[in-house]
Amino acid sequence: MHKKVLLSLIVIVFFWLSLPATSLVDYKSEPANLESNKHCFDCHSNNIYQYENENTGKVERKAMNPNFVYNPDDFYKGVHRHFACTDCHSPDYETFPHQAELRLEEMYSCLDCHGGDPTYAQFQFELIDDEFHKSVHSTKHDESFNCWMCHNPHSYTNMTRSDFKISEIVSYHNKTCVNCHDNNIHFQRISDSLKPSLEVIHSFLPNYKLHFSAVRCIECHTSQEDTMWVAHNILEKEFAVKKCVECHSSNTMLISSLYKYQNIEARRNRGTLNAVLINEAYVIGANRNIYVNYASIALFFLTLLGIAIHVFFRIKMK
Ligand code: HEC
Ligand code: HEC
Ligand code: HEC
Ligand code: HEC
Ligand code: HEC
Ligand code: HEC
Ligand code: HEC
Repeated sequence: MHKKVLLSLIVIVFFWLSLPATSLVDYKSEPANLESNKHCFDCHSNNIYQYENENTGKVERKAMNPNFVYNPDDFYKGVHRHFACTDCHSPDYETFPHQAELRLEEMYSCLDCHGGDPTYAQFQFELIDDEFHKSVHSTKHDESFNCWMCHNPHSYTNMTRSDFKISEIVSYHNKTCVNCHDNNIHFQRISDSLKPSLEVIHSFLPNYKLHFSAVRCIECHTSQEDTMWVAHNILEKEFAVKKCVECHSSNTMLISSLYKYQNIEARRNRGTLNAVLINEAYVIGANRNIYVNYASIALFFLTLLGIAIHVFFRIKMK
């Protein structure tokens, strides 16, 4: 028992120390390209767009392809909020109708911009790239399954390094997977095979809705030894966590996966090691139980005391 407490403590302190203090992006100031992007959003944030037909001189109103409609609020919350649309897309998109060849333009990959750049070292792009290429998504499919499949280019938000609650992190991360696995149109961009809904697949869980709002897909679908900040190696379904006790026990695996984010939250709010100690005692259903928290801190210091006394007598005996 004491060994486990100490072990998870070491894991947590490790993550705690390895965390960056701030993100690189300025999330407070006005987006750098708000004005120039307005032109694109005039059409690409609405179900209906209009333009003047040069041949007839008439203003035409047409329905926009729903997959080409983006919410400006989401775009300006994301990591690339200061970008102009034409930083990633050809400037030729300024004109409408867009030229047909533009459709064939090759898109940047994450690594094109972030690879080998020490500024972004904390995000471990190269390591994530390796992990992704080991995952089922990469091994079972060709390059058409790329980073953008999960990292929506028009809204990707870095949740785990900002001040989001665990519940918000869970919901955002899970939406990434559900948007494709429970959406036939998106799923068929990758595969012809259609699967039963996630709810049916996971019927072994007693309360599907509650579970999926409290834990992430990657908790069960990546290796538990994974020490990545965000695990990217999705394993074959045979290796998924099915045992209830993996989570429903005092040394729940969630401490080193999901709940590690809570320690940053706590650190930001309270800024003391004490917060880390309190969170170590986070047990499913027992969080917010102040006595459990105090008891575990007491236990921790008792353990330390025990070791100290032990060491003291060892030395004395010699
Ligand atoms: C007058 C409305 C209008 C404006 C303004 C507009 N678009 Fe579009 N855009 C469309 C429509 C309609 C489509 C789908 C039909 C097509 O491809 O022409 C589209 C398609 C696209 C596509 C997808 C092409 C494909 O088929 O893969 C991209 C990318 C795009 N627009 C980018 C932009 C960017 C960037 C801007 C601003 C610089 C912009 N658009 C401005 C109406 C507009
Ligand atoms: C960080 C780079 C980046 C920025 C900034 C960006 N896009 Fe994109 N956009 C992409 C990538 C990558 C794709 C292809 C995604 C895919 O294949 O799923 C794409 C696809 C599109 C598409 C076609 C969607 C489809 O399903 O084929 C449209 C339309 C579009 N972008 C419009 C915009 C508009 C409008 C803006 C500005 C508000 C913008 N983009 C800003 C990277 C970007
Ligand atoms: C066209 C170049 C380009 C591409 C492609 C691109 N990025 Fe970025 N990214 C940037 C730049 C530049 C910044 C810094 C923006 C700033 O400081 O406002 C950034 C910032 C980030 C950040 C830092 C967020 C923070 O809070 O510090 C993350 C994470 C990130 N990008 C992830 C990705 C991922 C994941 C992909 C691929 C899915 C990607 N980027 C693709 C250029 C790019
Ligand atoms: C199966 C879905 C999926 C794929 C594919 C994927 N990612 Fe991610 N990635 C996520 C999720 C979910 C997050 C967590 C979002 C967040 O809070 O930042 C994430 C987070 C990240 C982060 C932030 C890590 C940090 O330390 O804060 C980076 C960087 C990143 N991914 C890069 C990539 C790159 C590069 C690729 C392609 C080689 C890729 N991802 C492919 C789902 C995916
Ligand atoms: C509590 C652990 C757990 C969570 C959380 C979880 N899964 Fe699973 N998942 C499993 C297990 C176990 C299986 C294997 C079920 C079987 O083979 O009977 C599985 C199977 C799957 C499969 C394979 C379906 C098939 O038969 O081809 C997919 C896809 C999947 N899960 C996606 C997800 C997604 C997406 C999420 C998040 C929204 C998620 N899972 C959350 C444990 C979990
Ligand atoms: C763009 C669509 C897309 C996204 C996003 C996506 N997946 Fe998948 N996923 C697939 C496809 C396609 C397959 C392969 C189905 C096949 O070919 O059997 C798959 C397979 C799987 C499998 C089953 C592997 C097996 O053994 O059959 C699991 C588990 C899984 N995904 C989990 C996830 C998780 C977790 C996320 C989010 C982090 C996610 N997926 C995001 C499309 C997606
Ligand atoms: C990946 C971790 C994980 C796994 C695996 C897991 N659970 Fe859970 N479970 C949770 C979390 C987190 C909650 C939400 C607890 C909370 O909000 O306090 C929960 C809630 C529950 C609840 C509802 C408790 C309540 O307060 O209403 C039941 C019942 C439950 N789980 C049973 C199971 C069973 C049975 C299994 C095995 C088939 C299982 N769980 C597997 C993490 C997990």
